[in-house]
Amino acid sequence: MNILVTGGVGYIGAHTCVALLEAGHQVIIADNLCNSKVETLDRIRQITNKELTFYEVDITNELSLNNIFLSHYIDGVIHLAGFKAVGESIEKPLSYYYNNIVSTMLLAKACQKYGVRRFVFSSSATVYGDNEVPFIETMKLLPTTNPYGETKVMSERILTDIAKANPSWAVALLRYFNPVGAHESGLIGESPNGVPNNIMPYITQVAKGRLEKLKIFGSDYPTEDGTGIRDYIHVMDLAEGHVAALNNITEGVHIYNLGTGRGISVLELIEAFEKANGIKIPYEIVGRRPGDVASCYADVSNAKRKLGWIAKRDIFTMCRDAWRFENRYKE
Ligand code: NAD
Ligand code: UD1
Repeated sequence: MNILVTGGVGYIGAHTCVALLEAGHQVIIADNLCNSKVETLDRIRQITNKELTFYEVDITNELSLNNIFLSHYIDGVIHLAGFKAVGESIEKPLSYYYNNIVSTMLLAKACQKYGVRRFVFSSSATVYGDNEVPFIETMKLLPTTNPYGETKVMSERILTDIAKANPSWAVALLRYFNPVGAHESGLIGESPNGVPNNIMPYITQVAKGRLEKLKIFGSDYPTEDGTGIRDYIHVMDLAEGHVAALNNITEGVHIYNLGTGRGISVLELIEAFEKANGIKIPYEIVGRRPGDVASCYADVSNAKRKLGWIAKRDIFTMCRDAWRFENRYKE
C-alpha cells in the first residue's frame, strides 16, 4: 500500500517507516521537522535500502496537506504528527490543542475529500487516566491531568464520530504504552531536546555522564518497591504493531493497546539497564511528579487476538538498544 505517515521523521515515526518499508509498503512522509532532524531520512534509507518520499510541510496548513493527496494515490494514513510534552502542554495549552487537534481534523478532512478510508492514529495510554491496572480497551476513560492527554481523548472521539457517520472508514486507535529503545542498528532513536522528561533518555544521559544522577519521582507508591510501574515497549515492536494494525484494518473503529502487558518499576528498570550495559546508574529519591499515576500497564489480549501481534523484545534489549543509539549516532 501507499501510506502517508505524518510525523514520520520523529522518534516513533522513523521506526514505523522502517517497519512499513520492510513489510513492502511505499512510504510518503509529511513532517515539518519541528521536533526531528532531516538526517533521519537517510538513516531510514540506509537501514532498509529502500526509497521514500518526503514533504517538509506543516500539516495544519490545509493547502500543503491537500497537495500531497493530489500528487499521490494514498491507500492509508498513519497520523503520528503532534506535540507530546506533558509539562509543556500545561504551559502552552493553545498551541497543543491547535497543533494536535487541527492536524487530526485537516488530515481526516483530506481523507474524506480524496477517498482515503484507512486511518491509523497514535493515541496514548494516558487516555485511561488513573484507572485500575491492567488497562483494557473497553474501560471507561478517566480524566487525564493535562492538555496533551486531552488532545488524545478528543482526537480519538473525532475519528470515532467520523467513522460512525461514514461506515466505509476503517480506523485504528493505537494506545501506546511507554516506547523506549532504538533500532538495533543504532542509526535511529530518541533525541529529545534539552533535559529529557522521560525516564529512558534521562538514564542514557546519566550513563553518558551528561547528567549527574537520575531523580526517582516517588518511592511511596502502592507498588511492590514503592516506585512507579510502567509498561515499557521496544520502539521496533511498537513500529511493527502499526504494520499489523494497517494490514488487518477493517471497517469501523478498532482500539488496540500496544504494550507488553508487563509492568516494570523504576528500580527494576535501573537494574535492567545496569545489567544489560554494565554501567552503574547513580540515583536519588525525590518527591512524586505531579500528574503521575502509580501503575500503568496494558492488557494486550485484543491486539494479540485481532492483529496476531505481540511485543517480542525484552527489557534488556530495550536497554541495550537505547544505550547503543546514545553512543553511536546521537549528535
Ligand atoms: P516526536 O516529537 O519524535 O515525533 C513527532 C513528529 O511530528 C516530529 O517529527 C515533528 O517534527 C512532527 N510534527 C509535529 N507537529 C507537526 C505538524 N503540525 N506538521 C507536521 N509535522 C509535525 O514524537 P514521538 O515520540 O515520535 O510521538 C509520535 C506520536 O506518538 C505523537 O502523536 C505522540 O503524542 C504519540 N505518543 C508518543 C508517546 C511517546 O512516549 N513517545 C507515547 C504515546 C503517544
Ligand atoms: C509520560 C507522560 C505520558 C506520555 C508518556 C510518553 C506524564 C505525567 N505522562 O508518561 O502522558 O504518554 O510520557 O511520552 O508526564 N521517572 C522518574 N524520573 C525521571 C523520569 C521519570 O522517576 O526523571 C518515573 C516516572 O515517575 C514514571 C516512570 O519513571 O514512574 C516513567 O516516566 P516517563 O518516562 O516520564 O513516562 P510516563 O510518566 O509514563
